This record gives sequence, C-alpha cells and structure tokens, in this order.
Amino acid sequence: MPSPAHHKARRQQFLTSLDSPVLLMAGGWQSRNYPANWQPFRADSTFLFFFTDPEPNAAALFDPKDKSVVLFLDARTPEDALWHGPVPSLADLKKHHGVTAVLPRTELAAEVRRRVGKRRLRSVAVADPRATAEAAALTGEALDFHHSAAVGDPELLLAIARLRSQRSPEEVAEMRAAAAVTRKAHTLAMAHTRPGIFEQELVGHVEGAFAKAGCVPAYNTILSVRGEVLHNHYHGNLLHEPDLVLLDAGAERPSGYCADVTRTWPVSGRFSPEAADVYDIVLAAEQAAITAVRPGARYRDLHLLACRVLADGLVQMGLLRGSADELVESGAHALFFPHGVGHLLGLDVHDMEAFGDLIAYAPGRVRSKQFGTAYLRLDLDLAPGMCVTIEPGIYFVPAILRDAKFKKQFRGQVDFARAERFLTMNSLRGFGGIRIEDDVLCTDSGHEVLTEAVPKERAAVEALVGSGG
Ligand code: GLY
Ligand code: MN
Ligand code: MN
Repeated sequence: MPSPAHHKARRQQFLTSLDSPVLLMAGGWQSRNYPANWQPFRADSTFLFFFTDPEPNAAALFDPKDKSVVLFLDARTPEDALWHGPVPSLADLKKHHGVTAVLPRTELAAEVRRRVGKRRLRSVAVADPRATAEAAALTGEALDFHHSAAVGDPELLLAIARLRSQRSPEEVAEMRAAAAVTRKAHTLAMAHTRPGIFEQELVGHVEGAFAKAGCVPAYNTILSVRGEVLHNHYHGNLLHEPDLVLLDAGAERPSGYCADVTRTWPVSGRFSPEAADVYDIVLAAEQAAITAVRPGARYRDLHLLACRVLADGLVQMGLLRGSADELVESGAHALFFPHGVGHLLGLDVHDMEAFGDLIAYAPGRVRSKQFGTAYLRLDLDLAPGMCVTIEPGIYFVPAILRDAKFKKQFRGQVDFARAERFLTMNSLRGFGGIRIEDDVLCTDSGHEVLTEAVPKERAAVEALVGSGG
C-alpha cells in the first residue's frame, strides 16, 4: 500500500495544478439486493490515488488558495462500533492522513459553501450515483458518470490524468505485487486443467489465489473455451480434450492497483499444429509491440505494428492474401483481430476510461472509423511512468467470418473457405481464440514487462498444463 506520506505528496502536486477548489468523492456502499446487503466497498479510483485506504462516503475539498485539504468522514456511532467494530477517531485520522482537517460528513454542504464562497467549484462524477448527485448539487455542474462528456470539467480531468498516468516508484511496486499474485493465479489454473471439468473449477483456483493474497479480481474473470467471445463471463462449459482455455484475469491490490493478463493453453497439454501456428503468430505480434514500447512511441503505431505481424502470419497460414501493409490498410486483418492492442492500466483496469477519449487520445487525434481499429482505446505518445497493456489476439468469430457484408468486401483478401474450416473444427465447437496479454511499464530507457513471470512460451505453458490437478 502506498504510504500516507506518498498520498500527501500526490495531493500537494494536485493542489499546485489547480486555480480553484475541487471536491472529490470516494463514493459509498452499494447494495446488492436489500439495502443492508452491501457489495464490497471500492472507493473511486481518483480518490484512491490521493488517499490511503479511504472510508466509504469520504469526501475531500482541495483548496489551492490556502493549500488546504479537508476530509469529510461519516460520524462514529455506537451502533457502528457494535456491528462493525471500533474505527479510528476523526482526530486520529487527521494525523494519519496529514490533512488540514477532518470534519463530520454531515457538515459537508455547509462547510463547502462557507470555504468556497463565490468561487468556482468543480468535481468529478463517480460510480456511486448518490455521491455524484451530491457533488453536482454542490458544484452546479451537470455531472454524469455514464457519459464521458459529463464526467467533469475537461481541464480538471486532464490535470488528474497527468498525475494518474505517471507511476511513482511506490505505485509501480503495487503493480508488481498485483502481477505476482496474477502469476500465481494463472499458473494454478494451468496446472489444474484437465478434460472433464467445468470452467468454473478453474475460476475457483484463479479467484482463490487472489483472495489468499488479500486481492480481488480487478474485473470479471474471463475464463472460457470460447475465447472468441471477447468478454465471455460464462463459466459453465465442460473442458474437452481439443479445446483451448483462454484466461483473462488480473488481481487488484487493496491499494486499487491491478494487473490485466491473458494466457491461452490447450486442455490436452499439447497445442495442435493449427493452434501452435496461431499461438506463435500472436506471440510474435505481442513481442513486436512490446519491443516498441519506449518514450515517444505512438501507441497507435504499436497497434498497427501488431496488426502487420498478425496479418503476415495469417498470410503464411493461407487465411489472408496480399501484403501485410495492404491488409492492414484495408482492415482485412480485423476479421481475425477485431479489437485494439490494449489500453492504459493503473487503478482502473482500463485506466481512466470513464474520462473518455479526452484522456486516451492526444489532442487532434480521433478514433478511426474502420472496423477493428475503431476499438483502439488509446492513442497517446508514451512517456516514462505510463503503464499499458499489449494484448493482440487471433479469433475465429462465426458472426464475423460468415458475415455477408465482410465476405463481399474482403473476398479477394480473406480465404473464407479456409476460415470456415476453423469455425467447424473440434467437433463443430470451432477453434475459438488465442490472446496473449501483458502489462508493460514505459521507462526512461524503454520498457519493463511487469507480468513477464507469467509463463507464455509454448513449451513452458505445455509443461505446466495438468501438472497439479
Ligand atoms: N480484461 C479486459 C481487457 O483486457 O481489456
Ligand atoms: Mn486488457
Ligand atoms: Mn485483459
């Protein structure tokens, strides 16, 4: 966990970037069904960026005029002590966090009005609708978490993003720790893989490894023999001998920092010749893009580089025809690689995605309209301290490869008859998909792969599969 001193330094950096006060909300408990049956509490990521272990319902007023940070926390009641145990007093927490003052949450509205007066006050929408509504009422802004154009004032979001996208050494240490737990989870799932069990059993190993280390899944675990369904959260399939298992899972530390890793392996413990070919192409594309991570590299160029390596490999396999450059130019490769090569990673698995393309695309750059590249979530120039994922894949998606419009558009470039063989192999279950994903930190001299200890060479994966079930 980054220390209170670390968080205090982050708050001071933020204060120096502001010219008017800002109110941040942690968000509160969210009910699962009846009001008192709560989901586990998860503070908003920007709040987590500035505070160690924030409480539910916390709010903070940052004022650049006197460099003050006032924290508002729920009052301590005897009922709370009975049901939830003793909690530190507001006075203790003032000292712990090193803030200007800690006041009861009930005083938020009056105290904010008193301190801010007639000056402009800004805030940021969070996942908790009640906290967002409260912030909207106090600031007069039309805040809406679900519409990136209304998440907050653009200048404020950019100021937050400048800080949140540059990892300090303490933050990198958290991401390394999340990567280590994620390695354990992936290797356990590989080791316990065998025909005749359900996907859910492997999910149990993955999420059990997270829980044992005090972590939670950073996002809903994707573990599926239907790897071509990109965000497949169904875990009820039985594993058959010819299947490939695709696992996309990452641990989130109590600090909020997380990992996001994908590996794909054969249930049998041996890649079939076709699977080995596809795997090697995806791995080559991943390695090419990772090697290109360095300060100043444009993320979209990494995406296009991965696309060209994939296209080249698919030509070798007879699935595409033409030069890699032409295939990527026309978008034919996207029939097998229909998503972007990755995204920012940090406190959110798609870090700051709620802030929209304002943060993810550099000024003057807009999303491509072409199928595939339109899903590219990031187009910034990389800088030291930024962390991104690199996650190419090849998928055999019936809805794409049997689409009449695509069949017409790409008839000269795609061998649809050959692709059909992949859709019907494995007793008609189809090939599925292969994705390989790692988390890469941009450093002064190039990059560091934070998740490099998760096995991915074909032989290393094969050696692990079924070894501990
Ligand atoms: N885990 C979702 C993603 O890789 O973007
Ligand atoms: Mn990812
Ligand atoms: Mn992922």
